[in-house]
Amino acid sequence: MTNPLRLGIAGLGTVGIGVVKIVQTHADLLATRAGRPIEIVAISARSRSKDRGVDLTGYAWEDDPVTLAKRDDIDVFIEVMGGDSGPAKASTEAAIASGKDVVSANKALLALHGQALAQAAEDAGRVIRFEAAVAGGIPVVKSLTEGLAANVITRVIGVMNGSCNYILTRMEDAGLPYQDVFDEANALGYLEADPELDVGGIDAAHKLALLSSIAFGTRVDFPAVELEGIGSVSIEDIRQAADMGYKIKLLGVAQMTGRGLEQRMSPCLVPETSPLGQLQGGTNMVVLEGDAVGQIVLRGAGAGEGPTASAVMADVIDIARGTRLSTFGQPASTLRKVRAAQASVAAPYYVRMELVDKPGALSKVAAILADAGVSIDRMRQYGHDDTAAPVLIVTHKTTRTALDAAIEGFARTDVVSGPPVAIRIEAE
Ligand code: NAP
Ligand code: HSE
Repeated sequence: MTNPLRLGIAGLGTVGIGVVKIVQTHADLLATRAGRPIEIVAISARSRSKDRGVDLTGYAWEDDPVTLAKRDDIDVFIEVMGGDSGPAKASTEAAIASGKDVVSANKALLALHGQALAQAAEDAGRVIRFEAAVAGGIPVVKSLTEGLAANVITRVIGVMNGSCNYILTRMEDAGLPYQDVFDEANALGYLEADPELDVGGIDAAHKLALLSSIAFGTRVDFPAVELEGIGSVSIEDIRQAADMGYKIKLLGVAQMTGRGLEQRMSPCLVPETSPLGQLQGGTNMVVLEGDAVGQIVLRGAGAGEGPTASAVMADVIDIARGTRLSTFGQPASTLRKVRAAQASVAAPYYVRMELVDKPGALSKVAAILADAGVSIDRMRQYGHDDTAAPVLIVTHKTTRTALDAAIEGFARTDVVSGPPVAIRIEAE
């Protein structure tokens, strides 16, 4: 019989136990599709005594994931502990150094150390695969590295954090303010142990940085992602956007521009009729655009035991079959270091402000926009009372720099109360 592929799994939480379940329940299917049996040899977690709802008695136990990574009787080290340093980094490095291939679900580690790890793996003749790290069960890494390998990728855009999409859609559906829905999501266990990773956009930005690297053949550059979380999205803006035919999403956008690589993760308006606009709850969606293929849309579960373990096992099966791809789709030494471009591509913006209700207020705002070269597409006043007049403006395409100049101009007048809200409108 062909040699089995032997796994060591570090981390027995949501993802790790999902992997154990697939290996245990789908043994025949995996062996048939991979061309050889796939078996778990050794495992590691913090607590040996915790009941994890599956039979783990047949596997060797290691308290230390680094020791697990170095075992002679494993071929593939599966890192599903999490963390951008510490044991996750040490054990991944140890696995590569001791001749193991690595499958990881850890976007934080790869977003910060991906280039060095990819280079180390290639130098050692090993592979690192990370399908599960981006958009859970959606095969987006495979789509970029394999299905679309013949394309110049022009743009990657998507909703890559299910918790944020849950919060934003729940705010709209229930008419609740951000803090109420945040507290609810936290109580339901939908958010990471550090919720700022989700609502601050950091988790989604890790994923975007990984996709950018594959899409544009560049070194993964997480610090260059322009980042804004959803904490400042108000129910008022969700309502007004809906009234104008838009939804607010935490949107990741990566595109190569004449000035460098633009990577943004921020709340954006998208047309409510678009695939992204219709995305509800915790689902993820990634839209990929290539010069030959045009646009493709991938949608599915971005998290959870089954979807994430499905992605981990897809990588494991590839390794079992002998498919050996570079971590970011091309040799690490060929990944380019490029300049980061700040939102240089012009777009329409949604702007909401409170005007003091007196003659000439609107014309002052219009004049400041004109001076900054920002053209108004649509404008309306609503919810008018005796003193304040909320005003909504949708601009024609403009740069963020021009809009910021106008917003600075508003602050110097006596007709705009408080800071205006400005949210980019992203076309699909
Ligand atoms: P989790 O449920 O918190 O499980 C983490 C596991 O790692 C636990 O079993 C824990 O042990 C173990 N662990 C932590 N520190 C350890 C250490 N120092 N030594 C040995 N074991 C250690 O996490 P998860 O949700 O499965 O996520 C795992 C990874 O997958 C993360 O990188 C995460 O970002 C990524 N991911 C998760 C999802 C998802 O839907 N959950 C989706 C995509 C990607 P104990 O159980 O004994 O505490
Ligand atoms: N916290 C992440 C999310 C988990 O909500 O999408 C999957 O990475």
